Amino acid sequence: MTRLEVDLVVKKAVFPVAGLGTRFLPATKASPKEMLAVVDKPLIQYAVEEAYAAGIREMIFVTGRNKRSIEDHFDTAYELEAELAATGKDELMALVHSIKPDDMDCVYVRQPRALGLGHAILCAERLVQGEAFAVLLADDLMIGTPPIMRQMTELFAARQCSILAVQEVPEDQTNRYGIVKGEPMSPDLVNIKGLIEKPHPSAAPSNLAVAGRYILTPAVFDLIRTQPRGAGGEIQLTDGIAALLASEQVLAYRYHGQRYDCGSKLGLMQASVVLGETHPELGREFSAWLKNRQESASLPAF
Ligand code: G1P
Repeated sequence: MTRLEVDLVVKKAVFPVAGLGTRFLPATKASPKEMLAVVDKPLIQYAVEEAYAAGIREMIFVTGRNKRSIEDHFDTAYELEAELAATGKDELMALVHSIKPDDMDCVYVRQPRALGLGHAILCAERLVQGEAFAVLLADDLMIGTPPIMRQMTELFAARQCSILAVQEVPEDQTNRYGIVKGEPMSPDLVNIKGLIEKPHPSAAPSNLAVAGRYILTPAVFDLIRTQPRGAGGEIQLTDGIAALLASEQVLAYRYHGQRYDCGSKLGLMQASVVLGETHPELGREFSAWLKNRQESASLPAF
């Protein structure tokens, strides 16, 4: 295995946000699924904050048609800010400013056609400029202390190789994920030997699934480019990473925290309940309401 001559600090994160979000129609007919809110924050902002908390300062969004509101969200909102200033709403002003801290850069590139996650990542190649980089799928809302990407950048600094966040999933759900085959190295780490995108449960080598957080070395770009179309007829990131195994070590990391699959309605609702219950302003009131509701639902009807 070659030891990589790469910067130990991950400075760039790629957010593929060009997907159509058909699972959330009609909500996503005219607005991006990444702008769906959990309590009061859009999904994309949770992912960007996670990357920022990991020390990453350059955010690369791979966007598509109808994604303008993502760019607007991370841009200055003159009218809103002028209004907040004029009415002395300092707290709200600070909240609006905090969406894009001054030391954070946002850059955008378009994915002209929906050819798959691997293709989306390839669209960011020029902007990544040959460095190791993070990938965050905003659909997967990840909550952890420290934040999951921070756990991963720290591991990257120590290991200097590609790292995929993984979790165990029910065996009948392997066809929804990239699935890892590997050898355990420690309770948290698996040395990956193989990787398959969305295998049928009968063909899955394990139930260890890739969650939407990756740190990848730049060698993956050439390998994605040379992969044939994979699962679902798409250019798959998983296939590019699988090809990387021939020349580099890739680790699966069992992250410490929770993942909410906000690419599904159920996951979005679960995340809303969990983050609602811990929300600094609303948490107590919401929890009390939920408890009360459950108790009254268990009373016999009359
Ligand atoms: C993508 C990846 C898959 C990964 C999943 C995590 O699939 O292709 O390997 O396990 O994200 O959420 P998607 O959910 O975009 O179909």
